[in-house]
Amino acid sequence: MKSSLKAFLACALALGALLLAAPRARAAEFNGVWRLDDVKPWGVTLHTFIALHTKGGVLEGAVYPNGSGDVPIRSPHVEGADTVFGMDWGWTFHVRPDGGNLRVKVIYGDSGSSEGVAVPVGEDALKPLPALPLPALRSIPDNGLARTPPMGWNSWNHFAEHVDERVVRETADAMVSSGMAAAGYLYINIDDTWEAGRDAKGEIQTNAKFGDMKALADYVHAKGLKLGIYSSPGPLTCGGYTGSYGHEEQDAKTYASWGIDYLKYDWCSAGHIYPESALRAGYQKMGEALQASGRPIVYSLCEYGMGDVWTWGPLVSGNLWRTTGDISDNWKSMDSIGFNQGKLAPFAGPGHWNDPDMLEVGNGGMTPTEYRTHFSLWCMLAAPLMAGNDLRSMSPETRDILTNREVIAIDQDSLGHEATRAFASNGIEVFTKALSDGSVALGVFNRNGGEAPASFTWADAGIPGKAAGVRDLWQNADIPETDGFKGTVPGHGVVMLRIKLEGQVK
Ligand code: GLA
Repeated sequence: MKSSLKAFLACALALGALLLAAPRARAAEFNGVWRLDDVKPWGVTLHTFIALHTKGGVLEGAVYPNGSGDVPIRSPHVEGADTVFGMDWGWTFHVRPDGGNLRVKVIYGDSGSSEGVAVPVGEDALKPLPALPLPALRSIPDNGLARTPPMGWNSWNHFAEHVDERVVRETADAMVSSGMAAAGYLYINIDDTWEAGRDAKGEIQTNAKFGDMKALADYVHAKGLKLGIYSSPGPLTCGGYTGSYGHEEQDAKTYASWGIDYLKYDWCSAGHIYPESALRAGYQKMGEALQASGRPIVYSLCEYGMGDVWTWGPLVSGNLWRTTGDISDNWKSMDSIGFNQGKLAPFAGPGHWNDPDMLEVGNGGMTPTEYRTHFSLWCMLAAPLMAGNDLRSMSPETRDILTNREVIAIDQDSLGHEATRAFASNGIEVFTKALSDGSVALGVFNRNGGEAPASFTWADAGIPGKAAGVRDLWQNADIPETDGFKGTVPGHGVVMLRIKLEGQVK
Protein backbone atom coordinates (compact mmCIF):
# COMPACT_ATOMS: atom_id res chain seq x y z
CA MET A 1 0.00 0.00 0.00
CA LYS A 2 1.34 3.45 -0.88
CA SER A 3 2.32 5.51 2.14
CA SER A 4 0.04 8.44 1.15
CA LEU A 5 -2.93 6.05 1.03
CA LYS A 6 -1.90 4.59 4.39
CA ALA A 7 -1.73 8.05 5.90
CA PHE A 8 -5.14 8.88 4.45
CA LEU A 9 -6.69 5.71 5.88
CA ALA A 10 -5.13 6.32 9.28
CA CYS A 11 -6.51 9.82 9.25
CA ALA A 12 -9.98 8.61 8.24
CA LEU A 13 -9.93 5.98 10.99
CA ALA A 14 -8.90 8.52 13.60
CA LEU A 15 -11.65 10.89 12.50
CA GLY A 16 -14.20 8.06 12.57
CA ALA A 17 -13.14 7.10 16.09
CA LEU A 18 -13.44 10.70 17.19
CA LEU A 19 -16.93 11.00 15.74
CA LEU A 20 -18.04 7.77 17.41
CA ALA A 21 -16.51 8.73 20.71
CA ALA A 22 -18.06 12.17 20.79
CA PRO A 23 -21.65 11.15 21.55
CA ARG A 24 -20.36 8.62 24.09
CA ALA A 25 -18.35 11.28 25.90
CA ARG A 26 -21.31 13.60 26.12
CA ALA A 27 -24.07 11.10 26.64
CA ALA A 28 -23.91 11.08 30.45
CA GLU A 29 -24.71 14.78 30.61
CA PHE A 30 -28.14 14.05 29.16
CA ASN A 31 -29.18 11.32 31.61
CA GLY A 32 -32.55 11.96 33.22
CA VAL A 33 -36.08 13.09 32.48
CA TRP A 34 -36.49 16.60 31.08
CA ARG A 35 -39.61 18.70 30.64
CA LEU A 36 -39.85 21.11 27.76
CA ASP A 37 -42.68 23.66 28.03
CA ASP A 38 -44.42 25.07 25.02
CA VAL A 39 -46.22 28.22 26.18
CA LYS A 40 -49.01 29.04 23.73
CA PRO A 41 -50.15 32.64 23.30
CA TRP A 42 -53.72 31.53 24.09
CA GLY A 43 -52.83 30.73 27.69
CA VAL A 44 -52.08 27.01 27.53
CA THR A 45 -48.74 25.38 28.30
CA LEU A 46 -48.02 22.04 26.67
CA HIS A 47 -45.37 19.71 28.04
CA THR A 48 -43.03 17.44 26.14
CA PHE A 49 -40.94 15.07 28.21
CA ILE A 50 -37.58 13.77 27.05
CA ALA A 51 -36.21 10.73 28.89
CA LEU A 52 -32.58 9.94 28.14
CA HIS A 53 -30.06 7.44 29.45
CA THR A 54 -26.81 5.94 28.27
CA LYS A 55 -26.32 2.30 27.47
CA GLY A 56 -22.83 1.10 26.62
CA GLY A 57 -21.89 4.75 26.27
CA VAL A 58 -24.59 5.36 23.67
CA LEU A 59 -27.49 7.73 24.14
CA GLU A 60 -30.91 6.06 24.22
CA GLY A 61 -34.37 7.06 25.32
CA ALA A 62 -37.72 8.40 24.24
CA VAL A 63 -39.66 11.56 23.69
CA TYR A 64 -43.19 11.96 25.14
CA PRO A 65 -44.62 14.74 22.99
CA ASN A 66 -47.57 16.70 24.40
CA GLY A 67 -48.64 13.98 26.77
CA SER A 68 -48.31 11.15 24.26
CA GLY A 69 -46.61 7.88 25.03
CA ASP A 70 -42.98 7.12 24.50
CA VAL A 71 -41.63 7.55 21.01
CA PRO A 72 -38.07 6.13 20.93
CA ILE A 73 -35.27 8.41 19.83
CA ARG A 74 -33.30 7.42 16.72
CA SER A 75 -29.75 7.91 15.41
CA PRO A 76 -28.18 10.10 18.11
CA HIS A 77 -25.08 11.86 16.80
CA VAL A 78 -23.10 15.01 17.29
CA GLU A 79 -23.37 18.11 15.12
CA GLY A 80 -21.02 20.86 16.34
CA ALA A 81 -21.99 21.73 19.91
CA ASP A 82 -25.33 19.91 19.63
CA THR A 83 -26.32 16.31 20.12
CA VAL A 84 -28.97 15.53 17.57
CA PHE A 85 -31.54 12.73 17.45
CA GLY A 86 -34.72 11.95 15.57
CA MET A 87 -37.90 10.12 16.53
CA ASP A 88 -40.56 8.25 14.60
CA TRP A 89 -42.92 11.20 14.17
CA GLY A 90 -40.30 12.82 11.94
CA TRP A 91 -39.28 15.44 14.51
CA THR A 92 -35.57 16.17 15.04
CA PHE A 93 -34.16 17.32 18.37
CA HIS A 94 -30.96 19.37 18.81
CA VAL A 95 -29.96 19.37 22.47
CA ARG A 96 -27.05 20.78 24.43
CA PRO A 97 -26.42 21.01 28.19
CA ASP A 98 -27.03 24.47 29.61
CA GLY A 99 -26.24 25.01 33.31
CA GLY A 100 -28.14 21.98 34.62
CA ASN A 101 -30.87 22.33 31.98
CA LEU A 102 -31.02 21.28 28.36
CA ARG A 103 -31.26 23.80 25.56
CA VAL A 104 -33.53 22.19 22.97
CA LYS A 105 -34.43 22.99 19.39
CA VAL A 106 -37.21 20.86 17.89
CA ILE A 107 -37.58 20.75 14.10
CA TYR A 108 -41.08 19.52 13.19
CA GLY A 109 -40.27 17.85 9.88
CA ASP A 110 -41.06 20.50 7.29
CA SER A 111 -43.55 22.36 9.48
CA GLY A 112 -41.30 24.75 11.37
CA SER A 113 -39.31 24.55 14.58
CA SER A 114 -39.25 25.80 18.13
CA GLU A 115 -36.59 26.42 20.74
CA GLY A 116 -36.68 26.24 24.51
CA VAL A 117 -35.05 25.12 27.71
CA ALA A 118 -35.94 21.72 29.19
CA VAL A 119 -35.69 21.43 32.96
CA PRO A 120 -34.86 18.23 34.86
CA VAL A 121 -37.86 16.54 36.49
CA GLY A 122 -38.27 13.26 38.35
CA GLU A 123 -39.11 9.89 36.81
CA ASP A 124 -42.62 10.29 38.30
CA ALA A 125 -43.45 12.77 35.55
CA LEU A 126 -43.67 9.80 33.17
CA LYS A 127 -46.04 7.74 35.30
CA PRO A 128 -49.45 7.41 33.62
CA LEU A 129 -52.51 8.31 35.69
CA PRO A 130 -54.45 5.34 37.05
CA ALA A 131 -57.05 3.50 35.00
CA LEU A 132 -60.53 4.58 36.11
CA PRO A 133 -63.36 2.12 36.65
CA LEU A 134 -65.13 1.50 33.36
CA PRO A 135 -68.78 0.47 32.94
CA ALA A 136 -69.80 -3.16 32.47
CA LEU A 137 -70.39 -3.75 28.79
CA ARG A 138 -73.95 -3.41 27.52
CA SER A 139 -75.64 -2.25 24.34
CA ILE A 140 -76.63 1.40 24.43
CA PRO A 141 -79.69 2.23 22.32
CA ASP A 142 -79.12 3.84 18.94
CA ASN A 143 -79.30 7.63 19.34
CA GLY A 144 -81.28 7.93 16.12
CA LEU A 145 -78.81 10.37 14.54
CA ALA A 146 -76.77 10.29 11.32
CA ARG A 147 -79.16 8.21 9.21
CA THR A 148 -76.93 9.19 6.29
CA PRO A 149 -73.17 9.86 6.67
CA PRO A 150 -72.67 13.16 8.53
CA MET A 151 -71.56 16.09 6.36
CA GLY A 152 -69.78 19.20 7.54
CA TRP A 153 -66.40 20.77 8.15
CA ASN A 154 -63.66 20.05 10.67
CA SER A 155 -60.88 22.44 11.62
CA TRP A 156 -57.99 20.00 11.99
CA ASN A 157 -56.70 19.24 8.50
CA HIS A 158 -56.18 22.87 7.53
CA PHE A 159 -55.98 24.88 10.75
CA ALA A 160 -54.69 22.43 13.38
CA GLU A 161 -53.89 24.58 16.46
CA HIS A 162 -54.69 27.80 14.57
CA VAL A 163 -58.43 27.34 14.80
CA ASP A 164 -60.14 30.07 16.81
CA GLU A 165 -63.57 31.55 17.28
CA ARG A 166 -63.19 33.94 14.36
CA VAL A 167 -62.27 31.09 12.00
CA VAL A 168 -65.32 29.15 13.19
CA ARG A 169 -67.72 32.06 12.68
CA GLU A 170 -66.27 32.91 9.27
CA THR A 171 -66.40 29.24 8.28
CA ALA A 172 -70.08 29.11 9.23
CA ASP A 173 -70.65 32.21 7.07
CA ALA A 174 -68.71 30.64 4.18
CA MET A 175 -70.54 27.34 4.55
CA VAL A 176 -73.74 29.18 3.71
CA SER A 177 -72.45 31.70 1.14
CA SER A 178 -70.47 29.11 -0.84
CA GLY A 179 -73.47 26.85 -1.37
CA MET A 180 -71.97 24.10 0.80
CA ALA A 181 -74.85 24.26 3.30
CA ALA A 182 -77.38 24.00 0.47
CA ALA A 183 -75.49 20.96 -0.82
CA GLY A 184 -75.97 19.24 2.54
CA TYR A 185 -72.99 20.22 4.74
CA LEU A 186 -74.32 20.81 8.25
CA TYR A 187 -71.74 20.42 11.03
CA ILE A 188 -69.05 22.99 11.88
CA ASN A 189 -66.68 20.96 14.01
CA ILE A 190 -63.97 22.39 16.24
CA ASP A 191 -61.19 19.83 16.60
CA ASP A 192 -58.38 19.81 19.18
CA THR A 193 -56.82 22.91 20.83
CA TRP A 194 -59.93 24.75 22.08
CA GLU A 195 -59.49 23.50 25.64
CA ALA A 196 -57.87 25.08 28.70
CA GLY A 197 -57.79 23.38 32.11
CA ARG A 198 -60.67 22.96 34.55
CA ASP A 199 -62.00 25.37 37.17
CA ALA A 200 -62.30 24.55 40.88
CA LYS A 201 -65.55 22.66 40.21
CA GLY A 202 -63.92 20.61 37.49
CA GLU A 203 -65.70 22.43 34.66
CA ILE A 204 -63.75 22.35 31.41
CA GLN A 205 -62.66 25.82 30.29
CA THR A 206 -62.10 27.23 26.83
CA ASN A 207 -58.73 28.85 26.20
CA ALA A 208 -58.27 32.42 24.98
CA LYS A 209 -58.94 31.46 21.34
CA PHE A 210 -62.57 30.86 22.23
CA GLY A 211 -64.74 33.19 24.29
CA ASP A 212 -68.29 32.15 24.99
CA MET A 213 -68.92 28.71 23.49
CA LYS A 214 -72.68 29.04 24.00
CA ALA A 215 -72.72 32.31 22.05
CA LEU A 216 -70.69 30.63 19.30
CA ALA A 217 -73.17 27.76 19.13
CA ASP A 218 -76.03 30.28 18.95
CA TYR A 219 -74.29 32.00 16.04
CA VAL A 220 -73.78 28.72 14.17
CA HIS A 221 -77.34 27.58 14.88
CA ALA A 222 -78.75 30.88 13.62
CA LYS A 223 -77.19 30.02 10.25
CA GLY A 224 -79.10 26.73 10.20
CA LEU A 225 -75.89 24.81 10.99
CA LYS A 226 -74.73 22.68 13.91
CA LEU A 227 -71.64 22.91 16.11
CA GLY A 228 -69.25 20.08 16.97
CA ILE A 229 -66.46 19.76 19.50
CA TYR A 230 -63.59 17.41 20.37
CA SER A 231 -62.24 15.60 23.44
CA SER A 232 -60.51 12.44 24.63
CA PRO A 233 -61.23 9.71 27.21
CA GLY A 234 -57.66 10.25 28.42
CA PRO A 235 -56.33 13.08 30.60
CA LEU A 236 -54.80 14.71 27.52
CA THR A 237 -55.91 15.01 23.93
CA CYS A 238 -53.59 14.10 21.08
CA GLY A 239 -52.43 17.71 20.99
CA GLY A 240 -51.68 17.68 24.75
CA TYR A 241 -54.80 19.65 25.81
CA THR A 242 -57.19 18.71 28.63
CA GLY A 243 -59.25 15.56 27.97
CA SER A 244 -62.40 14.21 29.66
CA TYR A 245 -60.67 11.63 31.91
CA GLY A 246 -62.80 11.34 35.08
CA HIS A 247 -65.13 14.12 33.89
CA GLU A 248 -67.11 12.33 31.19
CA GLU A 249 -70.60 13.06 32.55
CA GLN A 250 -69.71 16.57 33.57
CA ASP A 251 -68.29 17.34 30.10
CA ALA A 252 -71.26 15.83 28.28
CA LYS A 253 -73.56 18.08 30.35
CA THR A 254 -71.36 21.08 29.63
CA TYR A 255 -71.45 20.37 25.88
CA ALA A 256 -75.23 20.03 26.04
CA SER A 257 -75.55 23.33 27.92
CA TRP A 258 -73.41 25.05 25.29
CA GLY A 259 -75.60 23.66 22.50
CA ILE A 260 -73.05 21.25 21.05
CA ASP A 261 -74.40 18.82 18.44
CA TYR A 262 -71.44 16.55 17.68
CA LEU A 263 -68.52 15.12 19.66
CA LYS A 264 -65.34 13.65 18.18
CA TYR A 265 -63.83 11.56 20.97
CA ASP A 266 -60.18 10.75 20.39
CA TRP A 267 -58.49 7.86 22.25
CA CYS A 268 -55.04 9.55 22.47
CA SER A 269 -53.56 9.43 25.99
CA ALA A 270 -56.17 6.86 27.10
CA GLY A 271 -53.95 4.43 25.22
CA HIS A 272 -51.23 4.84 27.90
CA ILE A 273 -53.66 4.11 30.71
CA TYR A 274 -55.98 1.40 29.41
CA PRO A 275 -55.26 -1.72 27.39
CA GLU A 276 -56.77 -1.98 23.93
CA SER A 277 -59.37 -4.37 25.34
CA ALA A 278 -60.84 -1.41 27.29
CA LEU A 279 -61.67 0.58 24.16
CA ARG A 280 -65.32 -0.45 24.05
CA ALA A 281 -65.96 0.28 27.74
CA GLY A 282 -64.10 3.59 27.47
CA TYR A 283 -66.28 4.68 24.57
CA GLN A 284 -69.41 3.30 26.22
CA LYS A 285 -68.75 5.57 29.22
CA MET A 286 -69.00 8.72 27.08
CA GLY A 287 -71.81 7.21 24.98
CA GLU A 288 -73.85 6.84 28.17
CA ALA A 289 -72.91 10.33 29.31
CA LEU A 290 -74.00 11.85 25.98
CA GLN A 291 -77.33 10.05 26.12
CA ALA A 292 -77.85 11.23 29.69
CA SER A 293 -77.06 14.81 28.68
CA GLY A 294 -80.53 15.31 27.26
CA ARG A 295 -79.26 16.68 23.93
CA PRO A 296 -78.95 14.77 20.66
CA ILE A 297 -75.19 14.71 20.04
CA VAL A 298 -73.61 12.81 17.12
CA TYR A 299 -70.91 10.54 18.56
CA SER A 300 -67.74 10.21 16.49
CA LEU A 301 -65.26 7.59 17.72
CA CYS A 302 -61.65 8.37 16.85
CA GLU A 303 -59.46 5.37 17.65
CA TYR A 304 -57.60 4.93 14.35
CA GLY A 305 -59.31 1.59 13.54
CA MET A 306 -58.05 -0.16 16.69
CA GLY A 307 -59.90 -2.97 18.42
CA ASP A 308 -62.12 -3.87 15.42
CA VAL A 309 -64.26 -0.89 16.36
CA TRP A 310 -66.71 -1.63 13.52
CA THR A 311 -67.88 -4.73 15.44
CA TRP A 312 -68.90 -2.78 18.58
CA GLY A 313 -69.12 0.88 17.50
CA PRO A 314 -72.94 0.82 17.17
CA LEU A 315 -73.25 -0.81 20.62
CA VAL A 316 -71.72 2.23 22.33
CA SER A 317 -74.06 4.44 20.24
CA GLY A 318 -71.19 5.48 17.97
CA ASN A 319 -72.42 7.11 14.77
CA LEU A 320 -69.06 6.86 13.05
CA TRP A 321 -65.67 5.41 13.82
CA ARG A 322 -62.25 5.99 12.37
CA THR A 323 -60.93 3.00 10.46
CA THR A 324 -57.34 4.23 9.98
CA GLY A 325 -54.58 6.51 11.20
CA ASP A 326 -54.54 10.16 10.19
CA ILE A 327 -54.86 11.13 6.54
CA SER A 328 -52.45 13.67 5.07
CA ASP A 329 -52.85 15.89 2.07
CA ASN A 330 -51.06 13.78 -0.51
CA TRP A 331 -51.95 11.07 -3.01
CA LYS A 332 -50.01 8.31 -1.25
CA SER A 333 -51.84 8.79 2.04
CA MET A 334 -55.27 9.17 0.44
CA ASP A 335 -54.67 6.21 -1.90
CA SER A 336 -53.49 3.85 0.83
CA ILE A 337 -56.45 4.70 3.06
CA GLY A 338 -59.19 4.96 0.45
CA PHE A 339 -58.46 1.81 -1.50
CA ASN A 340 -58.12 -0.41 1.57
CA GLN A 341 -61.55 -0.05 3.15
CA GLY A 342 -63.38 -2.75 1.19
CA LYS A 343 -63.60 -5.42 3.86
CA LEU A 344 -65.41 -3.04 6.19
CA ALA A 345 -68.41 -2.50 3.91
CA PRO A 346 -70.72 -4.88 5.82
CA PHE A 347 -70.37 -2.76 8.97
CA ALA A 348 -71.68 0.52 7.51
CA GLY A 349 -75.35 1.42 7.55
CA PRO A 350 -77.86 4.10 8.57
CA GLY A 351 -76.76 5.58 11.90
CA HIS A 352 -73.29 4.03 11.99
CA TRP A 353 -70.51 4.63 9.45
CA ASN A 354 -66.93 3.67 8.75
CA ASP A 355 -64.84 6.84 8.82
CA PRO A 356 -61.68 6.78 6.67
CA ASP A 357 -60.87 10.27 8.06
CA MET A 358 -61.68 13.79 6.97
CA LEU A 359 -61.40 15.25 3.50
CA GLU A 360 -58.27 16.98 2.24
CA VAL A 361 -59.99 18.38 -0.89
CA GLY A 362 -58.72 21.91 -1.53
CA ASN A 363 -55.77 21.84 0.85
CA GLY A 364 -53.24 22.05 -1.98
CA GLY A 365 -51.27 18.79 -1.79
CA MET A 366 -53.10 16.99 -4.60
CA THR A 367 -54.20 17.91 -8.11
CA PRO A 368 -57.85 18.66 -8.90
CA THR A 369 -58.02 15.25 -10.63
CA GLU A 370 -56.75 13.58 -7.45
CA TYR A 371 -59.17 15.53 -5.29
CA ARG A 372 -62.06 14.41 -7.54
CA THR A 373 -60.89 10.84 -6.99
CA HIS A 374 -60.60 11.38 -3.22
CA PHE A 375 -64.11 12.83 -3.08
CA SER A 376 -65.61 10.17 -5.37
CA LEU A 377 -64.04 7.37 -3.36
CA TRP A 378 -65.28 8.75 -0.04
CA CYS A 379 -68.79 9.06 -1.54
CA MET A 380 -68.66 5.48 -2.82
CA LEU A 381 -67.56 4.37 0.65
CA ALA A 382 -70.52 6.11 2.29
CA ALA A 383 -67.92 7.97 4.34
CA PRO A 384 -68.69 10.98 6.49
CA LEU A 385 -67.94 14.05 4.37
CA MET A 386 -66.04 16.46 6.61
CA ALA A 387 -64.44 19.14 4.48
CA GLY A 388 -60.99 19.90 5.88
CA ASN A 389 -60.04 22.99 3.88
CA ASP A 390 -60.38 26.74 4.42
CA LEU A 391 -63.92 27.35 3.18
CA ARG A 392 -63.38 31.13 3.32
CA SER A 393 -60.93 31.19 0.47
CA MET A 394 -61.55 28.05 -1.57
CA SER A 395 -61.22 28.17 -5.34
CA PRO A 396 -64.28 27.70 -7.55
CA GLU A 397 -62.76 24.37 -8.61
CA THR A 398 -62.60 23.13 -4.99
CA ARG A 399 -66.12 24.34 -4.33
CA ASP A 400 -67.36 22.57 -7.45
CA ILE A 401 -65.83 19.30 -6.27
CA LEU A 402 -67.24 19.58 -2.75
CA THR A 403 -70.70 20.59 -3.93
CA ASN A 404 -71.24 18.18 -6.83
CA ARG A 405 -74.72 17.12 -5.84
CA GLU A 406 -74.89 14.06 -8.05
CA VAL A 407 -71.74 12.66 -6.43
CA ILE A 408 -72.92 13.69 -2.95
CA ALA A 409 -76.19 11.84 -3.63
CA ILE A 410 -74.17 8.62 -3.93
CA ASP A 411 -72.72 9.22 -0.46
CA GLN A 412 -76.02 10.22 1.06
CA ASP A 413 -78.12 7.43 -0.46
CA SER A 414 -80.67 6.29 2.11
CA LEU A 415 -79.87 2.59 1.66
CA GLY A 416 -76.56 3.31 3.39
CA HIS A 417 -74.53 0.72 1.49
CA GLU A 418 -70.76 1.09 1.33
CA ALA A 419 -69.24 0.31 -2.09
CA THR A 420 -67.25 -2.85 -2.63
CA ARG A 421 -64.54 -3.53 -5.17
CA ALA A 422 -65.91 -5.43 -8.17
CA PHE A 423 -62.44 -6.06 -9.57
CA ALA A 424 -58.93 -4.65 -9.87
CA SER A 425 -56.65 -5.02 -12.85
CA ASN A 426 -53.44 -3.16 -13.77
CA GLY A 427 -54.11 -0.33 -11.35
CA ILE A 428 -57.71 0.14 -12.51
CA GLU A 429 -60.16 -0.54 -9.68
CA VAL A 430 -63.89 -0.72 -10.19
CA PHE A 431 -66.20 -0.17 -7.24
CA THR A 432 -69.97 -0.59 -7.22
CA LYS A 433 -72.61 0.46 -4.77
CA ALA A 434 -76.31 -0.40 -4.76
CA LEU A 435 -78.61 2.62 -4.40
CA SER A 436 -82.06 2.95 -2.87
CA ASP A 437 -83.84 3.55 -6.21
CA GLY A 438 -82.51 0.28 -7.60
CA SER A 439 -79.74 1.88 -9.66
CA VAL A 440 -76.04 1.22 -9.18
CA ALA A 441 -73.19 3.68 -8.66
CA LEU A 442 -70.01 2.61 -10.39
CA GLY A 443 -66.56 4.19 -10.01
CA VAL A 444 -63.72 3.41 -12.39
CA PHE A 445 -60.61 4.47 -10.48
CA ASN A 446 -57.12 4.66 -11.96
CA ARG A 447 -54.42 4.27 -9.30
CA ASN A 448 -51.66 4.55 -11.93
CA GLY A 449 -49.80 7.82 -12.40
CA GLY A 450 -50.53 7.85 -16.13
CA GLU A 451 -53.66 7.52 -18.24
CA ALA A 452 -54.86 3.92 -18.52
CA PRO A 453 -57.42 2.08 -20.64
CA ALA A 454 -60.32 0.14 -19.12
CA SER A 455 -62.80 -2.11 -20.83
CA PHE A 456 -65.41 -4.32 -19.17
CA THR A 457 -69.11 -5.13 -19.30
CA TRP A 458 -71.58 -4.30 -16.55
CA ALA A 459 -71.84 -8.05 -16.00
CA ASP A 460 -68.03 -8.13 -15.44
CA ALA A 461 -68.61 -5.59 -12.67
CA GLY A 462 -71.27 -7.83 -11.14
CA ILE A 463 -74.19 -5.59 -12.10
CA PRO A 464 -77.32 -7.65 -12.52
CA GLY A 465 -79.39 -6.81 -15.58
CA LYS A 466 -79.33 -4.41 -18.49
CA ALA A 467 -78.69 -0.68 -18.29
CA ALA A 468 -81.62 1.55 -19.10
CA GLY A 469 -79.67 4.77 -18.69
CA VAL A 470 -76.14 5.82 -17.78
CA ARG A 471 -75.16 9.15 -16.28
CA ASP A 472 -71.66 10.53 -15.90
CA LEU A 473 -71.62 12.22 -12.50
CA TRP A 474 -68.64 14.50 -13.07
CA GLN A 475 -69.78 15.57 -16.54
CA ASN A 476 -73.32 15.86 -15.11
CA ALA A 477 -74.55 14.42 -18.38
CA ASP A 478 -76.32 11.34 -19.69
CA ILE A 479 -74.11 9.22 -21.89
CA PRO A 480 -75.21 6.80 -24.60
CA GLU A 481 -76.38 3.51 -23.15
CA THR A 482 -73.96 0.66 -23.49
CA ASP A 483 -73.56 -2.69 -21.85
CA GLY A 484 -70.21 -1.75 -20.41
CA PHE A 485 -67.32 0.68 -20.10
CA LYS A 486 -64.70 1.20 -22.77
CA GLY A 487 -62.40 4.16 -22.48
CA THR A 488 -59.44 5.66 -20.72
CA VAL A 489 -59.17 7.09 -17.25
CA PRO A 490 -56.65 9.87 -16.49
CA GLY A 491 -53.75 9.06 -14.16
CA HIS A 492 -55.02 9.12 -10.53
CA GLY A 493 -58.43 9.92 -12.01
CA VAL A 494 -61.94 8.55 -11.85
CA VAL A 495 -65.04 8.09 -13.96
CA MET A 496 -68.17 8.04 -11.80
CA LEU A 497 -71.34 6.64 -13.29
CA ARG A 498 -74.89 6.08 -12.11
CA ILE A 499 -76.46 3.18 -13.96
CA LYS A 500 -80.21 2.89 -14.14
CA LEU A 501 -81.28 -0.70 -14.70
CA GLU A 502 -84.09 -1.95 -16.92
CA GLY A 503 -87.15 -2.81 -14.90
CA GLN A 504 -85.89 -0.72 -11.98
CA VAL A 505 -88.75 -0.18 -9.55
CA LYS A 506 -88.32 3.54 -8.90
C1 GLA B 1 -55.54 12.78 16.23
C2 GLA B 1 -56.74 12.62 15.32
C3 GLA B 1 -56.80 13.79 14.36
C4 GLA B 1 -56.90 15.10 15.15
C5 GLA B 1 -55.71 15.20 16.11
C6 GLA B 1 -55.86 16.38 17.05
O1 GLA B 1 -54.35 12.70 15.54
O2 GLA B 1 -56.68 11.41 14.61
O3 GLA B 1 -57.91 13.67 13.49
O4 GLA B 1 -58.10 15.11 15.84
O5 GLA B 1 -55.60 14.03 16.91
O6 GLA B 1 -54.86 16.44 18.00
